[in-house]
Amino acid sequence: MNLGILISGRGSNLEAILAASSEGRLHARPRIVISNRAGAGGLALAARRGVPTAVVAHGDFARREDFDQALVDALRAHDVDTVALAGFDRLVTPQLLDAFPHRVVNVHPALLPAFPGLHAQRQALEYGAKVTGVTIHLVDEQMDHGPILAQAAVPVLDGDTEETLSARILEQEHRLYPLALQMLTRSPLQIEGRRVQGGISSP
Ligand code: GRF
Repeated sequence: MNLGILISGRGSNLEAILAASSEGRLHARPRIVISNRAGAGGLALAARRGVPTAVVAHGDFARREDFDQALVDALRAHDVDTVALAGFDRLVTPQLLDAFPHRVVNVHPALLPAFPGLHAQRQALEYGAKVTGVTIHLVDEQMDHGPILAQAAVPVLDGDTEETLSARILEQEHRLYPLALQMLTRSPLQIEGRRVQGGISSP
């Protein structure tokens, strides 16, 4: 599996994916890391591990479709067949999804369909949820919506702040994302409607 990883920020999920692939837990070759933000910390992290990097700045494009086409061009130039969004802060369009059908994956820091969108950890705290978690899912045209590959539950504890809860969730993101990507190395995925056979449910 030839992996392209899209990031916007610090890249801790990227690091977990790169570590899993270099340790043989994830049978994937990371081919290119692309950020839409030049200052993303994850770019240096990828470079340290010898993975090629590129910046495709969304602000350089008038339309989202043109931005996504530039991403597709860069991904294809590196023979990518599977795309992992790892803290990527742009909504993707059919331009990208149609180029990699059922091969674009995202991590979300909540148990979807609860708490989609930004600040999922804060949403869980403010709602008073006792359990939240992590979802790894295929990306479709709606935000935080596509078929679920893997979920892990994380307790919300008395006294949690957004920071403490986010840190507890992040540990599970790092554990679960490589496991879910490994599912995509055993093709083809069996998908009926929204239901993916063989998904990971992790307490
Ligand atoms: C993670 O919490 C991810 O779930 C969310 O954004 C954060 C990215 O963190 N979409 P990092 O850049 O992988 O460290």
